[in-house]
Amino acid sequence: MLCLGVETSCDETAVAVVEDGRRIRSNLIWSQIDKHQKFGGVVPELAARCHLEVISRLTAEALEQAAVAPEEIDLVAATYGPGLIGGLLVGLSMAKALSLAWQVPFVGVNHVEGHIYANFLAHPDLEPPLLCLTVSGGHTQLVLMPEHGHYELLGQTRDDAAGEAFDKVARVLSLGYPGGPHLDRLAQTGRPTLMLVQHDALAGTYDFSFSGLKTAVVNLVHNLKQKGEPVPAADVAASFQRQVVSILLDRAFRALAATKVKTLVLSGGVAANSELRTRFAAEAEARGVKLYYPPLSLCTDNAAMIAACGYFQWLRKGASPLALAANPRLRF
Ligand code: KG4
Ligand code: ZN
Repeated sequence: MLCLGVETSCDETAVAVVEDGRRIRSNLIWSQIDKHQKFGGVVPELAARCHLEVISRLTAEALEQAAVAPEEIDLVAATYGPGLIGGLLVGLSMAKALSLAWQVPFVGVNHVEGHIYANFLAHPDLEPPLLCLTVSGGHTQLVLMPEHGHYELLGQTRDDAAGEAFDKVARVLSLGYPGGPHLDRLAQTGRPTLMLVQHDALAGTYDFSFSGLKTAVVNLVHNLKQKGEPVPAADVAASFQRQVVSILLDRAFRALAATKVKTLVLSGGVAANSELRTRFAAEAEARGVKLYYPPLSLCTDNAAMIAACGYFQWLRKGASPLALAANPRLRF
């Protein structure tokens, strides 16, 4: 079964063709990063316009690369939330129009659920029950998935998403945008010796908070600059990253112990972080937990994960109504 997936919830226009929810036939991503760079963050209205400009061409290219004719597509899936409303509307309208034109079912997909399914594309043997830590620019969630399509939200961020905190700290350190990968690289040259916050305010819960840590970095940098002292950027980056990863590690492995689940999957852009990968791998090995994460190309936003998720959703629940509305604040 061939599913065409569409993803437009943030600043990447993406279209993909996936076979039987597991095999990627094509996976095209058109990034708008350079359009938003000068603003230091995603401008929603600009993002929606950029999606509109490229989505038709990208769809044609995704079919061509997959060597698939439109009449061979069996299912169309698109992200309907959470995300930026303008972008969501572009992708959703495109998918609904294709569904009508090609006379195939349409499925609306939750973007965060899509991130989880990036792992099913990458690992053919992966099956629930599993625990999923999604860490991206917009979300930080710890979700128990006892079986396909069933989710229990165990914890989430009470303020900034992990990626958002990475991006803001990177900005204060005058690194590029989006800051996560830059901060990751810089941290490798620094020492994590700065104690940025004294204690973890949400210790014992499965929730996350990163704004205190972010503010500590902002204050530290401003104070040093005011005094005319040099900012030890690499040490700040390493210390910040060390504390973020420690919090993520604590929540995930406590939840694994409490639920007795033995499989952990990571998803979202921050799952590309090198320290996160190293420390999660070591802890998983020590505790006899199987750890999965997608390859870098499937960690960040893409449409293959939406097509995969859409396929499994269609198997369970069938098509979504064409009247399905975009939902910027969609939750599990
Ligand atoms: O999943 P994603 O593409 O978009 C959302 O759905 O939000 O994640 C993007 C986020 C950005 O905040 C980016 O800075 C972060 O993932 N990111 C990283 C790394 N690579 C991407 N954060 C830390 N370390 C990285 N290596
Ligand atoms: Zn995402």
